[in-house]
Amino acid sequence: MMEGSVATKPAPAVPAAPAAPPPERLALPRELTFHPSDWAVLARSWFPVARSDEIGDRPVRMRLLDVDVVVYRTNGTARVARDLCMHRGTALSLGWVEGDCIVCPYHGFQYAPDGACVAVPAHPDMAIPPKLRITTFPVAERYGLIWTTLNGPEEPLLPEFDAWDDPDYQAIMAPTIDIAGSAGRQVEGFLDVAHFAWAHNKSFALRENQIVPSYRVERTARGIRAQYISSVSNYPVGKHDLAPPDFEWLRDFEVFPPFAARLIVHFPDGGRLHILNAASPIAARKTRLFVPLAKNFDKDLPVEEVHAFNLTIFNEDRVMVESQRPEDLPLDITMEAHIAADRTSIAYRKLLKESGLGALYFS
Ligand code: FES
Ligand SMILES: [Fe+2]
Repeated sequence: MMEGSVATKPAPAVPAAPAAPPPERLALPRELTFHPSDWAVLARSWFPVARSDEIGDRPVRMRLLDVDVVVYRTNGTARVARDLCMHRGTALSLGWVEGDCIVCPYHGFQYAPDGACVAVPAHPDMAIPPKLRITTFPVAERYGLIWTTLNGPEEPLLPEFDAWDDPDYQAIMAPTIDIAGSAGRQVEGFLDVAHFAWAHNKSFALRENQIVPSYRVERTARGIRAQYISSVSNYPVGKHDLAPPDFEWLRDFEVFPPFAARLIVHFPDGGRLHILNAASPIAARKTRLFVPLAKNFDKDLPVEEVHAFNLTIFNEDRVMVESQRPEDLPLDITMEAHIAADRTSIAYRKLLKESGLGALYFS
């Protein structure tokens, strides 16, 4: 301490600043179909935008939450960026990949994986301003799907679907289904156990087996889990005798909000069928459904048969979802009537509301 100086009191502790939210990559899209506050909540989540097998050498245009994105690969690595060249607004999905870069077809600008423009062919000696860059999004490739987030954290937060990588299981990508309806309605339909006897009486359920036994729903760290035991077979109609007559079918559902749910169906003799229902919100009332499956039995069954069976079932659901009004899942519980069988649906609506969704019904 210098002579004559006075000891000063330590400065009062400054309260720690709350953790900063991740930087927003995108503002509201110009063709917004969501309530703005719902869009802001959903833009922080991860969603699938393509099947891995759809993305090869050519860039492909996809849409997520009203935003056009281009999905492509450089040296095998999946990339997702806004489908918009920053020179004159051309769609980069019309372009191609060269080395590590995506090339715009209009004037040949090249963009590196981090979004920076690295070539302006009209002026090879020009110093490219660092601000000349496209918007890129974080990417994860898992369960046969390419996932991204518009404004969410870099670290992927995906549903759990470990059976996909389990060597004891056969992994099958069921056909993608496009639905003219909201993702919330679709996911709720996937969790619904009272519709089997009605919507699926041509595929796996019987009209006369209508009664829904009581079942448990619980909260998990990430979402909700429902375990439903009933006599509703999961074999196709006409093949129900493959199971013993008194067999009790356990359907174990787990929700990973906002729009993914995993169902594990317990078959006879330890057979397990894992189904991931991953609904991707293209727009508020337009949903692309990705359905990776994994099963540890009947592995020699032709995959075409599995595809056809799933397509039938999900199309039966699609017709119901596309007819529902209001199109958006009402998160105000008082808006629709509920029965005891709807326990999971009610928990799901509450979960979504807690996440900040439902502005449509509460503003
Ligand atoms: S619009 Fe893309 S390079 Fe000109
Ligand atoms: Fe269904």
